Formats: sequence, C-alpha cells, structure tokens
Amino acid sequence: MRERLAADFERFGRAMPPDPAAHVRETYGIDLSARYLGFELPHPIGKGSGQLSLNADQLATDREAGLAFVILKTVIAEDEAGTRSMGAWAIHETRMTVERRTAADGRAGWTVTWKGRGWDRPFEDYLALVRTAGDLTRGGALLAVPSVKYHLPHLDEPFRSAEYRYTTGRIVEAWGGGDVPLEKDFSPTLAGDALADERERILRWLREVPGEIRRASAGAPLRLAIKLMNARFDDGFQREMLAAVREADALVCFNRLWDAETRVAYGGWDLSERNLGVLRSARAAGVRLPPLVGTGNVCSGGLVLDYARAGCESVELHTFFQLPLAAYPASSGSRTQRALHALFFHPVDGMVAGMLELERSGVLHRRGGELRFLDLCQGGER
Ligand SMILES: Cc1cc2nc3c(=O)[nH]c(=O)nc-3n(C[C@H](O)[C@H](O)[C@H](O)COP(=O)(O)O)c2cc1C
Repeated sequence: MRERLAADFERFGRAMPPDPAAHVRETYGIDLSARYLGFELPHPIGKGSGQLSLNADQLATDREAGLAFVILKTVIAEDEAGTRSMGAWAIHETRMTVERRTAADGRAGWTVTWKGRGWDRPFEDYLALVRTAGDLTRGGALLAVPSVKYHLPHLDEPFRSAEYRYTTGRIVEAWGGGDVPLEKDFSPTLAGDALADERERILRWLREVPGEIRRASAGAPLRLAIKLMNARFDDGFQREMLAAVREADALVCFNRLWDAETRVAYGGWDLSERNLGVLRSARAAGVRLPPLVGTGNVCSGGLVLDYARAGCESVELHTFFQLPLAAYPASSGSRTQRALHALFFHPVDGMVAGMLELERSGVLHRRGGELRFLDLCQGGER
C-alpha cells in the first residue's frame, strides 16, 4: 500500500482523480466520510469563512476541485433600516500578506496577515451569494454555508433582536428551502476588542446567542454552528466557553489567536497547539459537547487526524488554501486541488498515510474491511 501511495502521490500531483474520496475507498479500503452540522460529506476537508469565499466563481472552483464544504465570508447583521451595531466589523481592506510565523516552540508555520474584518459590500450582494449557496447545496454539488456576526451586548444591555430577526429572516428566504446551515462567528478581532475583556460578558453571549438566532429564524429548519474565538484568557476559560454554549448543533473550534502588540489575528503552530490542547482537555474532563468542527493550522493530513482524534468530524482551512504555489507538492491545478492532493496523498503527512499508520499501531481498526475516519472522532479504539 505504501508503494501504491507513493505512486498515487506522484501521478495525482499532475492531475487529481475526479473523485479522490472514492479512489481512497476503492484503493486503500479507507472511508473518509465526515460530517458538518449533520450534513454527510465525502471527506472532512472544507474551507473556513474568509476572503476565499466571497463570490460564485470561488465556489465553482472549489466544487470542481472536490472540496467537501465552504463557509461563506461572514456578513455583519443589520436591521430593516440597515443599521448595524457591529458595523465596525464591516471595514474594507484588500491587502493580505501570506507570511511565515515561528511558533513559541520554534516550529515555522504560515499565517495570513490582514487588517480587514467582515463582508464590506451591500447585504443584497451577500443574499445573492446565499442563493447560489442554497442551490449548490440542494443540488448536492457543494455544501456552502452562510456565516454571520450578530450584535453582542454589554452585560446590562439587551440583544438587538431586530438585527437578529431581519438578517436571519432574509438569509433563510434567500437560501430557498430545506434545512438552512448557518455559522455564527465570534472572531479574533472581537477577542481583541474591549467588548470581550470581561469573562461574564462572553459567557452570557455563548449561553444566549444561539437562542436569539433560533427565535429569529421563526421556526425555519435551521442548523446552527457556533464558531468560537480564542479569548485572551487561559485554557481553563476556553473550556468554560465550550461548556457555556447552549442550543448549538455544532461548535467550530477555535478561530485565530490575537496578537495584542501588532493588533492582528494570527495562526500557525501556536494556534493548532492551543486548539488541540483545549479540545483534548475538555474531552478528558468529560465536558458534554455537540459535534465538533476543527479549524486552525490544518496544513497536513496529520493535522486533520489530530483534530479528528480530539473529536472533530470535519475541518475548516483557510491559510493552507492561500500558500505560494511553490509550497505545494503538486505541479498543477487550483490551490484547492493542490492542497487536497497534499492532504490526501502525501506519503508521510497525508490522511491516507496517517490512517494506515494508526491501523499499524493498533489505534484504528477495520470494520467491514474498512478504516473509517469518523471512528477516530469517537476515540478510534473500536
Ligand atoms: C484573511 C482571513 C480572513 C478571515 N475571515 C473570517 C471571517 O470573516 N469569518 C470567520 O468566521 N473566520 C474568518 N477567518 C478565519 C478562518 O476561517 C479560519 O478559521 C482561521 O484562519 C483558522 O484556520 P487556518 O489556520 O487554516 O487559517 C479568516 C481568516 C483569514 C486568514
């Protein structure tokens, strides 16, 4: 199988097979099926919300590349009159820099430095993208998910329910029928804001925001993922945040770290260390959690499996889809295709290599002749 994998890595670096997950199943007896918000996925690799999911062309490229799901850029909620209490997050900024970042333990990773925030165009333009997303999802071509940042109050203030109602209602309507997946973003720039400098305030948001969104959806079949930030407090508080969320159908763990000195969000190995550490410790402490989705420095198949073993049923990447072309082992294809090639087939670091290794070391066992990705999320030792 190792020889076969080396040959696949070589030839798929020139052109990926049309359905890489089916190829992996047939060739290696590995079932990569995964889940996001209860939607069945052929494999666990999706794209996190950001500058790489702003328009229909980007969605078309990702569908063609065989990505399992995409989260649309985060839109800032507004009420009927167009008022946005989180309007400071709708700033326009085009310049992004992809750069190396050395972690505290010395490992060199990648980060994207950018001072922008949420969707900076009219809400109607976002709704047009949601329409496309609904069509792609219902057609089975690609699960594409809207993302929103809603009003977050001070402790003594009520939630601005009018913003929740108007924004959610318009998104549900634009979606066009069937279950509506929605991600609510608590971003790193929020973690760096004075609004998030009190623990009690953050915990209240996590307890109450999902209920606000559900009420705002007025009975529509909403599936709600809460994407948590890395707050500027310790790991213990991060676990408290996990435990505080009520009524979410999934948790996305965790958005980027905040550099208070340079006032930018960042990723790299510090981010995956923190995220995996908190998820593992929450699991060890028996914190009861809804299904998990991982995000943060997923730059190899090995990292996908690490997040899976910490409980994540799928992963959302951003930075790895934005590297200089020379950083991918593939010699052709879109960045999404080149990234999938490395994540699936890298002979040392890929998902196939990693799952075969987990089988060899007795962590993962075949059932019905197959190794199953989702078994890893439940502990693997079946
Ligand atoms: C330039 C940039 C913009 C982003 N914008 C958003 C956003 O609007 N909403 C959101 O939920 N996450 C946003 N993210 C976070 C990513 O979706 C992802 O969760 C995070 O970067 C960690 O994954 P990574 O290490 O693979 O980049 C953004 C990330 C980057 C780098």
